[in-house]
Amino acid sequence: MGKISAVILAAGKGKRMKSPLAKVLRNICGQPVIYYVLKLFSKIKSIGQVIVVTGYQEEIVQREIKSICKANFKQLFSKLEFSHQAKTLGTADALKKALAKVRFQEIVVVCGDNPLLQAKTLAAFIANSRKKNLSCNLLVSFLKGKNQLGRVIFDGKGNPKAILEKSELNKGKLSQEVGEQPVNSGTYYFREKNLPLYLNKISQNKRKKEYYLTDLIEILYKDGKKIGAYLVDDASEIAGINDFFEFQFAQEVIRKRVVQEVSKKGVEVVCPDLTFISEPVKIGKNSIIYPFTCIDKNVIIGSNCLLGPFLHLRSGSRIKQNSQLGNFLEVNRSSIGKKVKAKHFGYIGDAVICENSNIGAGVVFANYDGKKKQQTRVKKGAFIGSNVSLVAPLSVGEAAVVGAGAVVTKDVKRNQVVAGVPASVLKAKRKGKFKS
Ligand code: UD1
Ligand code: CA
Repeated sequence: MGKISAVILAAGKGKRMKSPLAKVLRNICGQPVIYYVLKLFSKIKSIGQVIVVTGYQEEIVQREIKSICKANFKQLFSKLEFSHQAKTLGTADALKKALAKVRFQEIVVVCGDNPLLQAKTLAAFIANSRKKNLSCNLLVSFLKGKNQLGRVIFDGKGNPKAILEKSELNKGKLSQEVGEQPVNSGTYYFREKNLPLYLNKISQNKRKKEYYLTDLIEILYKDGKKIGAYLVDDASEIAGINDFFEFQFAQEVIRKRVVQEVSKKGVEVVCPDLTFISEPVKIGKNSIIYPFTCIDKNVIIGSNCLLGPFLHLRSGSRIKQNSQLGNFLEVNRSSIGKKVKAKHFGYIGDAVICENSNIGAGVVFANYDGKKKQQTRVKKGAFIGSNVSLVAPLSVGEAAVVGAGAVVTKDVKRNQVVAGVPASVLKAKRKGKFKS
């Protein structure tokens, strides 16, 4: 089978969010909403190009999309293109703009505000469209309760013949046809060489002054085209983000998925509902995560670690195996070696802590001098007592000891014992052997 052109509609503002930030840029589990749509396509092998239609906050949206692909989905980066929609004249107009760049016969269209669709479902949808040799296929689902999605209307033979937007329901003679119809996910498959022609036939919606892509279905149907509807069992996959309630729902679904992914790899998450992990993340097996642990994006954690409760691991931190990081601790841009213990309160920022070191309760790495972030290095087997401030830039030597309450402003040598405010040398050599 040939390659497919993917089109992501992402030019809208998201008026119903009542916020100036483009809705595809809003953050869920460490990544903008659009990240999850790009991730979806990165998993579908037959995708030959990805065209994103942008308009609102175009420069920022495009920059963000490029950097997401560069950092996470390299293979997609080379397939990435953008189409400009100057005015948000509706979903049909947005697709029209993308068509100029489409290179393949088959097209899959998705909305940029639908981050919950799973690759398995999309792959099955494409396979179904191909198997049935359809001109157009709709991804649909049954959704209970109130929702803002379009309703798919079927003819007597069970073929889709139109999509009615919610605003058009209960109007005129069409209202009687609306009952328990499945809803339109906003994901479409097309294999139709006259698609540009048909799109041009869509007239402007009088009330909204927009060109609705959904109106295309009736046009194709009337022209005898073969249209299908592919049912997704799990309706949560088709949920979009139009207001903050829907955003919160999507956030919850994605947060659970990330926790599940981590759990599948052999990590014990003690309370999945109270654990907040961002994408992408790597956590080694046999590690245990206690409640209220927040792990930001791009954190790498080894195996057999004990994390939390109440731990914040910030972006880019590295934690090696058998470490124990505990209650009320923040770790920021730092690298923690094997078997390091930092179990009670504190801030570790811009630090490299080597293996077997012990960081006592309430230790603060004072990394900011008001102008610049400064580095601290704690070498193998060092012992930092409780309530110590390590004023960066600083180096604490191998097996050195820092007494409780010290404010350390000068480098501490290997095996030295220091204490006091400011810290001074108590002993040139600590008692006992350095154990590594
Ligand atoms: C749309 C569908 C609806 C479907 C729902 C699924 C139409 C008319 N309605 O409604 O049947 O149930 O999606 O989520 O298509 N966009 C542009 N340019 C525009 C307008 C929109 O790029 O001019 C983009 C938006 O950024 C968004 C997507 O298209 O990512 C969908 O637009 P939105 O306004 O959210 O449509 P819905 O009201 O959700
Ligand atoms: Ca939407």
